[in-house]
Amino acid sequence: MALVEGIDGSTAPLDSQELRAEGGQLPAAREGGVMRKSGSGASASPNTLYYGDNLDILKNKIKDESVDLIYLDPPFKSGTNYNLLFQAAGLDAVGEQVEAFKDTWKWGESSERAYDEVRNYGKLGLALSGIRKWLGDRNEMMAYLAMMAVRLVHMQHKLKPSGSIFLHCDPVASHYLKILLDALFGGGSFQNEIIWSYRRWPTKASRLQRMHDVILFYSIDPEQAKFNIRYQDPTESSKKRWKGKKQNVTFDLLGHRNPTAELSEESVGVPLNDVLKIPVIAPVSKERLGYPTQKPLRLLQQIIDVASDPGDLILDPFCGCGTAVDAAEMLGREWIGIDIAHYAVTLIEERLARWRPGATYEVFGRPTTLAGARDLAQRDKFQFEWWAAWLLGGRATRKKARMMALMGE
Ligand SMILES: C[S@@+](CC[C@H](N)C(=O)[O-])C[C@H]1O[C@@H](n2cnc3c(N)ncnc32)[C@H](O)[C@@H]1O
Repeated sequence: MALVEGIDGSTAPLDSQELRAEGGQLPAAREGGVMRKSGSGASASPNTLYYGDNLDILKNKIKDESVDLIYLDPPFKSGTNYNLLFQAAGLDAVGEQVEAFKDTWKWGESSERAYDEVRNYGKLGLALSGIRKWLGDRNEMMAYLAMMAVRLVHMQHKLKPSGSIFLHCDPVASHYLKILLDALFGGGSFQNEIIWSYRRWPTKASRLQRMHDVILFYSIDPEQAKFNIRYQDPTESSKKRWKGKKQNVTFDLLGHRNPTAELSEESVGVPLNDVLKIPVIAPVSKERLGYPTQKPLRLLQQIIDVASDPGDLILDPFCGCGTAVDAAEMLGREWIGIDIAHYAVTLIEERLARWRPGATYEVFGRPTTLAGARDLAQRDKFQFEWWAAWLLGGRATRKKARMMALMGE
């Protein structure tokens, strides 16, 4: 059952004095935040869905050092604004398109603010200002990186000393993001650059078709980080050759590995490596919810399974239609999801109701008062329309929602 409550008030900008602390040390722990309830009973579940900007929520609602694993799949700087059809959501206005979320960037006031908040934040500040010198002042990539940098600082803050972060991106910005993560976490915290390799419909292009995403995996302290070894099936050729048995090996004086023909006990498979071959969600798959950029559940299951244990708290600050939330729920983890698109939050609720009917969680951030609704309408007309359509029972068109907005004024 979902309980609905509003987030009160707006949030103060990150205190840049705190961020200027020597050597980029993290700001002191803040008051407030989500209180994790003890016990594992369903009614004590801390599972939470936030509708809003993750920067505000990270700053004000989530306790420092409370999260075991962060998975984030932010906009990739694709230069696209993702539209989706009302039809996909089963709504009435067939053919009417709305923007789900934006992935186009230009330098503006909020970029300047984000940049100012982190420019003196230890090595991350150095890296970001260095990139700015190189790319120039009003660059699109810089706008994207400033947005990411300030959020990454706060995410780092939320991780327990044994915590890890998986940043899902693609080759458009992965090299810049890796520099930011190296600067923020320290190069020694780097664990893996995971390649999610998939196949999709071949197209003719004047370059090689891209068939992979990049997932950067860092841990606060690799010595303490949780990691569960998992195995995958051996290739067909090695199955044939070794008949599902472990192969014995000998090592020569130079340390070279020489497989021998001797066979011992059953093989459990080969340890999972950093290339995950998982298909994208097929157009006809039941898993497909019609949300642009939805990731396969299997990918999130693998990540959460290797890097956390049952009962751990998983945070996805760009949760979209909730693939990480769904995987966390399925694997017995606690979770927090955040998204700025109202439609995403609604889809997650539908998804959980359909596939995880026992899930208990709370939703924060929807307007609950007239003043809150007015505020949302002023800040973001699109999101207001989505919210109003949801309020009218999910079957309303945006035209009805628009009328509601007019009537409310
Ligand atoms: C690539 S999608 C995530 C897809 C998700 N992994 C899934 O499987 O559905 C990125 C999401 O980030 C959200 N987003 C973008 N900026 C945000 C912000 N500042 N705060 C919270 N969510 C944001 C978008 O609304 C979008 O749903």
